[in-house]
Amino acid sequence: MGKSFAVIGDPIDHSLSPNIHNAAFRELDLDCSYIAYRIPQGELKEGIEGLKKIKIDGFNVTIPHKIEMMKYLDKIDESCSLIGAVNTVTNKEGTLKGYNTDMDGFIEPFKKRELVIEGTEILLLGAGGAARAIVAGFAKEKAKRITIANRTLENAEVLLDFAEKIGSNANAIKIHDVDLMTNGYDIIVNATSIGLKKEPSPISLDGITDKTIVYDIVYMPMNTDFIKKAKEKRAKIIFGYEMLLGQAVRAFEIWHGIEAPYNAMKKALLGGF
Ligand SMILES: NC(=O)c1ccc[n+]([C@@H]2O[C@H](COP(=O)([O-])OP(=O)(O)OC[C@H]3O[C@@H](n4cnc5c(N)ncnc54)[C@H](OP(=O)(O)O)[C@@H]3O)[C@@H](O)[C@H]2O)c1
Repeated sequence: MGKSFAVIGDPIDHSLSPNIHNAAFRELDLDCSYIAYRIPQGELKEGIEGLKKIKIDGFNVTIPHKIEMMKYLDKIDESCSLIGAVNTVTNKEGTLKGYNTDMDGFIEPFKKRELVIEGTEILLLGAGGAARAIVAGFAKEKAKRITIANRTLENAEVLLDFAEKIGSNANAIKIHDVDLMTNGYDIIVNATSIGLKKEPSPISLDGITDKTIVYDIVYMPMNTDFIKKAKEKRAKIIFGYEMLLGQAVRAFEIWHGIEAPYNAMKKALLGGF
């Protein structure tokens, strides 16, 4: 019998995950389907019951359910307990196991380019859910120090506590105080939601060089103002779609136990832009 998968969240209409996974099924001739399923905030419990009734084999979880979903898991993978949020679930005869593939998805583009994170100075803009997975990734890869810069200093300090708990050397500042200090960082990441609505870059990037790695996790539009400013400085660019693809590839491998068809998934994703 064919297997079925879904992504749950709200809003969900514009999710690119069905495109990516269905392209992988076609490429490997798998008898599987993947749909987007809108579950509004406050209706997660009923939504999950529905998914169990139709014997869904696995699903992705996105905004606003990534943290609340933890309550409904029977088993929790280490990636998921570390970050405290779930984005990938397997369903084995009614037993739900949660994973978080955002961390591996974020790191994947560095590996593909053979860029070394160990010993680097990081500037991380933002302190939300995605930034947490990113801190965990940088900690795992042994970055030298992470400067967390956020609009709300208190949120940066909460993330700083997390970073220190998992053994990272980090500090927290207000994003407003970054501008004159962008030289001296090897890697600069935008993990705020700035750019989604075509806003100007959150920081100036004047001090960077062609050796700086600049990574924007906002993937729509692909060329945010932050990316454009980095290109002007001939920095090494990593695009948000690469993280999206990385987490999807990892989720695919968890569900199917075989290597994901990266190129077919990439083509489907870029066709969605
Ligand atoms: N490429 C991928 O695969 C991928 C994966 C996950 C997320 N994302 C993208 O990453 C972004 C963040 O996601 P998230 O889940 O971490 O969201 P979140 O938990 O809501 O966090 C949002 C972050 O953006 C900051 N922010 C929002 N509006 C701002 C503004 N006008 N000025 C300055 N800072 C602002 C917030 O600062 P405060 O603390 O001050 O509110 C917070 O640090 C979203 O655009 C999302 O689409 C991409």
